[in-house]
Amino acid sequence: MKVVNTIADLRAQVKEWKAEGLTVGLCPTMGYLHEGHASLMDASVAACDRTVASVFVNPIQFGPTEDLATYPRDFDHDCKLLEEHGVDLVFHPEDSEMYADDFCTFVDINTLSDTLCGASRPIHFRGVCTVITKLFNAVNPDKAFFGKKDAQQLAIIRRMTRDLNFDVEIVGCPIVREADGLAKSSRNTYLSPEERKAALILSRTIRLGQDIAGGCERSSAKLLAAMRANLATEPLADVEYVEVVDGLSMQPVEQYKDGDLVAMAVRIGTTRLIDNFTVGDPAIDVAL
Ligand code: PAF
Repeated sequence: MKVVNTIADLRAQVKEWKAEGLTVGLCPTMGYLHEGHASLMDASVAACDRTVASVFVNPIQFGPTEDLATYPRDFDHDCKLLEEHGVDLVFHPEDSEMYADDFCTFVDINTLSDTLCGASRPIHFRGVCTVITKLFNAVNPDKAFFGKKDAQQLAIIRRMTRDLNFDVEIVGCPIVREADGLAKSSRNTYLSPEERKAALILSRTIRLGQDIAGGCERSSAKLLAAMRANLATEPLADVEYVEVVDGLSMQPVEQYKDGDLVAMAVRIGTTRLIDNFTVGDPAIDVAL
């Protein structure tokens, strides 16, 4: 496995592969990798001849009060995992390689980024769209792989790809969970043992929501009331949002249908966790 730090080296390697007629998959990450990320690598390795993973904590997607400075990093561990999962090339740039001092061009997306996480993280998706655009331009991948845990991010990247005519297939990969149901996240590492237990309220509430949505109930208000009541049983949980939105537009719906997204963000202590399910998605199986 090769590690490169510059866009020029990244482009040179991809150019060689493309000249040989090989297909290239891209898995963008911010590092501190876990099995959720590994599932993206596995999907790419299975679908493409060569896989590029980026490891870059993208500063422009963090707000001024967010955890950029403390975001967990362990590049040696990341490389080990990436190598084990068959990644061919790791792109690990410095901030200055991605953003010149006078960098001032951003890719922004309207409406889809106004709701859910975007409501409390106003510059977040602009930062994500900008860095993904830069990665798409540098790698020109045939396919790019993103986790469904960040469901709004996935919807936004799909829309951006369509709107800006990127010639790449966006592949969404299922949420990977711990045995007890907690969705895997680099931020789980912030949780104390007591908070780790309390964090199970997210997956339990997702399971409750799935059970309700799997029946004949179609009222978002009723579904959300039951989910909010369940979250309220956990004293350490501070709910930022629980919403039902249209799966494409990310706008709230009064009556939900298959393909709509039920998503939540909950703070356990100071750690902000997210989880979701898609109505009617047969791929969901949240452990209790
Ligand atoms: O999901 C993430 O880890 C990041 O938002 C991404 C897609 C790598 C962009 O920095």
